Amino acid sequence: MTIKQVSEKYSISPDTLRYYEKVGIIRPYSRNYYKCCDEAKAEQQNKELPELKNYLPNIDQYNKIILVYPCWWGTMPQAVFTFLNHYNFAGKEIMPICTHEGSGMGRSERDIALTCPTAKVLKGLAIWGLSANNCDAELENVLL
Ligand SMILES: Cc1cc2nc3c(=O)[nH]c(=O)nc-3n(C[C@H](O)[C@H](O)[C@H](O)COP(=O)(O)O)c2cc1C
Repeated sequence: MTIKQVSEKYSISPDTLRYYEKVGIIRPYSRNYYKCCDEAKAEQQNKELPELKNYLPNIDQYNKIILVYPCWWGTMPQAVFTFLNHYNFAGKEIMPICTHEGSGMGRSERDIALTCPTAKVLKGLAIWGLSANNCDAELENVLL
């Protein structure tokens, strides 16, 4: 199950959860997994903040942001840093949900807290990508 499927299945906050759909990344990554990994690593090392195609008009109406992302090189993809840098999360809660292949949340919760110092970052949920199809109970536990 991908981020998109998790988002669609639970329809918690489509504007937020489906950021890949609504906040597409302008620069496409290689469709080759290994090349994509290299590109993402370089992007992280260079602390690049790739421009996003669209931004939500505002997030004022949301008190709790469910932030779903894959673990890339131990933390969030740089595009998620772009997303987080764009808004003022003062007084809001951020619930991180991270799909991964072994790193769990990595250092992403700490990175979210550093990027959004005025937000309250809740304890995240790590979902093993390969077993994401069977994560209903875990998701319901934190989302419902
Ligand atoms: C560029 C890149 C870097 C990755 N880095 C990590 C990592 O550091 N640790 C980890 O556990 N998984 C890593 N992965 C695996 C993904 O986190 C995992 O496959 C995730 O479930 C993908 O979710 P998605 O299908 O929604 O994109 C990486 C994948 C990619 C493409």
